[in-house]
Amino acid sequence: TFVVTENCIKCKYTDCVEVCPVDCFHEGPNFLVIDPDECIDCTLCEPECPAEAIFSEEELPEGQQHFKQLNAELTKSWPVITEKKAMPADAKEWDGKPDKLKLLER
Ligand code: SF4
Ligand code: F3S
Repeated sequence: TFVVTENCIKCKYTDCVEVCPVDCFHEGPNFLVIDPDECIDCTLCEPECPAEAIFSEEELPEGQQHFKQLNAELTKSWPVITEKKAMPADAKEWDGKPDKLKLLER
């Protein structure tokens, strides 16, 4: 299973959704998550993310392990997204900023 991690928050470029063959991305106000029950480990989304926010659950960076549980939890209440949309106007300013988890909107 692949996991969306912290750097997606407030960047939300959505390039990832277009390549997923099984439509397992779900969209929240300022973050996307992957449905772990649908992901088939095709690896296609990982290189598509300009924010490098997508990792295999086996390769989650230090401090990002809790995003596995967060993806599983939030996917239940957020709708599926399959088409790329415009990124937030300030997406590039937030790219790479630390401690964005507190800014996550549910
Ligand atoms: Fe979708 Fe493949 Fe990414 Fe899983 S690894 S979320 S199946 S694109
Ligand atoms: Fe987020 Fe990267 Fe997709 S920033 S919306 S995981 S392309």
